[in-house]
Amino acid sequence: MNPHHKIHFVGAGPGDPELITVRGKRLLEEADLVLYADTLIDPELLRCAKPWASLVGSSGLTLEEIVSLMAEGWKGGKKVVRLVSGDPALYSAVNEQAERLSQLGIPWEIVPGVSSLSAAAASLGVELTCPEVSQAVVAARAGGRTPLPSGFRLRDVIHPRATHALFLSADLAEDLVREFLQRGFDPSCPAACVYRASWNEERKMLTELSRLPQLLKEESVTRQALILVGDVLSEERRKGRRSVLYSDD
Ligand SMILES: C[S@@+](CC[C@H](N)C(=O)[O-])C[C@H]1O[C@@H](n2cnc3c(N)ncnc32)[C@H](O)[C@@H]1O
Repeated sequence: MNPHHKIHFVGAGPGDPELITVRGKRLLEEADLVLYADTLIDPELLRCAKPWASLVGSSGLTLEEIVSLMAEGWKGGKKVVRLVSGDPALYSAVNEQAERLSQLGIPWEIVPGVSSLSAAAASLGVELTCPEVSQAVVAARAGGRTPLPSGFRLRDVIHPRATHALFLSADLAEDLVREFLQRGFDPSCPAACVYRASWNEERKMLTELSRLPQLLKEESVTRQALILVGDVLSEERRKGRRSVLYSDD
């Protein structure tokens, strides 16, 4: 068996076709079969695939169907790419697919991507860590179709001196805000939402924690949006801070 014949899980980036890695793009260009998460991947990105490559959207498929398509392709000697949005390391259901491939004896590899977390921060023009304001970034989500682990509450991982990136939670903004308030956050804490970061139809909103649910309702944003919460989002609170990285002593 050719040890280099593997299935590649590739991070497609947040949407803008220029935000895939060089390695990810090369694998996409070489692929015979691409299974892609069609809701958050711009079809424009797939134009670099070979004209005869099979391109299959995965949003209507079950885990078993996805694994079986990948496995059949691999066994047939095809180069298979499983293209997921953003970075495969976050909320991509990669573990369950990789586990089944390993059970079938099929080797696989992950190629990282630019997460929507990075794209949303770039779009807001902000670094998520800032001396004396926030030195931690918490990636989390509200409970939804995938419930939170039993015994875990969002308020246990949120902190007034951290920046929070909340995935898959735009339709649960009221629950989110309740968790922050119960943790003792000020209702005026800065909060932001970036809808479809890096896409042409991107929209960004900067507000206060307590106003977030109403704003999302007014803007009809219920999905495909990243929510950020923390003092670092306030230009006023970032002003004048400096790190030791470029200190003259
Ligand atoms: C299934 S998860 C995939 C996350 C992805 N692996 C990442 O690193 O961005 C989908 C969620 O990620 C966020 N998301 C993905 N792409 C986005 C984008 N371009 N703009 C804003 N949020 C996005 C949203 O919260 C969405 O509900």
